[in-house]
This record gives sequence, C-alpha cells and structure tokens, in this order.
Amino acid sequence: MALVTTTEMFKKAYDGGYAIGAFNVNNMEIVQGITEAAGELNSPVILQVSKGARAYANHTYLVKLVEAAVAENPDIPIALHLDHGDSFELCKSCIDGGFTSVMIDASSKPFEENIALTKQVVEYAHAHGAVVEAELGTLAGVEDEVVVEAGKESYTRPEEVEEFVDRTGCDSLAIAIGTSHGAYKFTADQCTRNEKGILVPPPLRFDVLKGCIDKLPGFPIVLHGSSSVPQEFVKMINENGGQMPDAIGIPEDQLREAAKLAVCKINIDSDIRLAMTAVMRQYFNEHPDHFDPRQYLKPARQAVKDMVAHKITNVLGSNGKA
Ligand code: G3H
Ligand code: 13P
Ligand code: ZN
Repeated sequence: MALVTTTEMFKKAYDGGYAIGAFNVNNMEIVQGITEAAGELNSPVILQVSKGARAYANHTYLVKLVEAAVAENPDIPIALHLDHGDSFELCKSCIDGGFTSVMIDASSKPFEENIALTKQVVEYAHAHGAVVEAELGTLAGVEDEVVVEAGKESYTRPEEVEEFVDRTGCDSLAIAIGTSHGAYKFTADQCTRNEKGILVPPPLRFDVLKGCIDKLPGFPIVLHGSSSVPQEFVKMINENGGQMPDAIGIPEDQLREAAKLAVCKINIDSDIRLAMTAVMRQYFNEHPDHFDPRQYLKPARQAVKDMVAHKITNVLGSNGKA
C-alpha cells in the first residue's frame, strides 16, 4: 500500500469507537519502532513530522525513511503528516514533498485570521490530494518555539467550531480540552494528591469535547498533548542520572474514553522520548565501556516499539483495524 491520507482511517475510527495514534518521528529508530509495532498489530498509523524534526533530520531523509517503512509494512495504512505547520509556505512545501496530510496551526491567531490561513492551506491541499488538520483553542506546554504556561491555556469554545469548519473546509479539528504538550503538563497547584501522595492531574474537559461533538456530528476530532508520562520511565531516568522531577501526563483511561467518542487522532511524542531516554540512560549506566551506537539504539528502538504497541492496544484500540 502507498502512503494514504487520513480520510478513510478517520471514518472507520469514528464509526468503530477507536482512535489512530499519531506518533512524532525524528530518526530511523523511531520510524522503525513505531511501524514495526503497528505492522505486527495490524493497526493503521500516522507518522508525523514537526518543523523541528524537519530542521533536525532534513525533509528528504524523513520522507525516504517513511517510504521505507511503507515498503516494509505493505498491509497497513500509513499517513505522513506535518505536525504544527505554522505557515502556508511550510504546508505547501510538505504537500509538494510527499506528505499526505498537514496541520495548519493558527490557533494562536485571532479567529478570523485562523480561518483565513486555514482556508488558504485547505484550498492548496485539496487541490493536491492532501488533507488538513486545523486547531481552535490553545494547549499549555511547549511546541516548537511556542511556550504556553500551565494555567494560561484556553479551552476550545464549542459555539465556534461549526462556523470554523464550515468556513475553512478543514478535514479534522484539534481542540483544547485540558491536554498539554511536553512531559510537565501540570503544575503541582493544578493537581490533587492521591492516598499515596502521587499527583493526580485535573480531569479532561469531556463537557467541552461533547459540546464540540454536538455541533459537529460525524466530524473527526484530534487531541494533541496526549502523552501519559509513564512514571516507571520517569523513575528509570531519575535513577540513572536524569533529573525530571514532577513530570506528569494525561491518564490513559481518559484518552481511551475520548477515543470511544469522536476523537479519531491522538498525538503522542513525549512518551516515545521518555522511553528512549530511560532505556539509553540505563544502558550507559550498566555498560560504561560500550561505545557502538547500535548497542544502545537497539534497546531504544525496542522501547519505542513496546510503547507504541501498548498505546495501540490499551489506549487507542486500533489493533486489528488496518
Ligand atoms: O507538539 C510538539 C511535538 O511534540 C513536536 O515537538 O517541535 O520538539 O519536534 P518538536
Ligand atoms: P505530547 O508532548 O503529549 O507527546 O504531545 C505531542 C503532540 O501533541 C505533538 O503534536
Ligand atoms: Zn501537538
């Protein structure tokens, strides 16, 4: 199968009550780990590339790596998506260069400017066989150069979504319901503590999600900032020379609930970073004399694969849906 758009994937996910994982890719080991897991579990998957990833690895290298993964996994649908495109030119360059899907993230702009820029990208994308994700509302956290402090995010306003989608013609909509980018999603002040003293984050705003679904029945919704920051990896990092105090994410059971509703795409990047970092830190601690990158990148790639397999099976529900 060649690279696909997300249209068919999202339709089936919406009707089937599951979501497609959108995992960020930056190098060969990450591409391999993700697609080996998706291939073995017969799951559709979205590989997404940020502006930063493109600056790090180079557009051509990333596209060729993804094309290799498509050739190695011919039985599963794979989409190649631009994550957080911030300009028409960037979106155009990715579409021209083989991406099947782009995000234009004009969510920090006023409503009318967001509409105008999104519409411009949609017109170009649709004329060239690609699809467009847009965003309304602001997440907290770090994405490329933009930092939004926890507590300064703004939830999507359900009363705006219908007009936005009608006027832009976008194919999916990312909304803000309390997820956040990065490994430090909430401050201690925003959380409560359970009986073991562990921080419990504020619940996702399912009322906002349901408000958006009521206005846009049948339309695919996207959640960014959906890493769960598994505490076993944070512990492993901290026990092996790292310093990640108070790293905290979105509970997986809440993401599973969202996936059963209209959420068709769930973005995960930080959990892959944590898994690779934890395994590599431990490896260096245990093997101070090793210096062949294959020795530590092999378990790192396996950690990506295990993480993605876990997400597909236990969070997204996309296993067996290729
Ligand atoms: O939302 C942001 C993604 O995690 C990509 O991060 O811009 O550091 O590649 P990046
Ligand atoms: P996380 O930082 O929670 O993994 O979110 C990734 C993301 O939203 C990429 O667009
Ligand atoms: Zn994001």
